[in-house]
Amino acid sequence: MPPPEIRISKTAPELFAAAAAEFAAQVALAVRANGRFTVALSGGSTPRSLYARLAANPEIPWAKICFFWGDERHVPPDHPDSNYRMAHAAMLAKVPVRPEKVFRIRGEEKNADIAARQYEKVLQDFFHLSPGQLPRFDLILLGLGPDGHTASLFPGTTALTERHRLVVANWVEKFKTFRITFTFPVLNAPAGVLFLSSGKDKAATLREVLENPGANLPSQGVRPANGRLIWFVDEAAAAALSRAPR
Ligand code: 6PG
Repeated sequence: MPPPEIRISKTAPELFAAAAAEFAAQVALAVRANGRFTVALSGGSTPRSLYARLAANPEIPWAKICFFWGDERHVPPDHPDSNYRMAHAAMLAKVPVRPEKVFRIRGEEKNADIAARQYEKVLQDFFHLSPGQLPRFDLILLGLGPDGHTASLFPGTTALTERHRLVVANWVEKFKTFRITFTFPVLNAPAGVLFLSSGKDKAATLREVLENPGANLPSQGVRPANGRLIWFVDEAAAAALSRAPR
């Protein structure tokens, strides 16, 4: 398992430019090799600037990209908290994606477990999975929560120990809600994982994740078995790292 690559950019705009260049390069590679690019998007606020930058890049073969989500809030797609809504507004609505290649999680489903099982079926059908097989995305985008969570795998939640399901409904006590999220087996099966983390609020957590193996934070559970792991961070987020540029 190759060690994670950590790319530190001076500023947030430089961070998003670097991540956008990496994304575009990976799209080109995958489309050349397989005629398509499969990506699972992340939610939260950090990737919005990346999506906006990508949307401004006409070189990207948008019709060749298949979009999925690594997690979703238990809300309808037009809800302000919807990860789908954020990505749609920042990117998908602005570029010539093929609607039949956009696979969102149905957060509007009253029963979150049904939404999770529906999305598992979407993955099984799209990747032609046999029982026990894992989907191999070209790229999974992830963020880092202040408590060390990623996707919707929060500390102390049941989904952390799931080893068979691909997607589950995960109860998050502190938000008193379910989240629908990929599990670690899926997060560790892609060809590449790209973590994005920006801002001083993330510095202490990032140091724990990257430099304290005993911290046992959910983000530390992401170690692709046979894939690249790249952290794109800015200097503010990297400020507490022992290798941080001084
Ligand atoms: C979500 C995300 C989550 C996010 C982190 C970081 O649905 O919220 O998938 O894992 O990446 O919470 O969020 P920020 O980018 O807003 O700090």
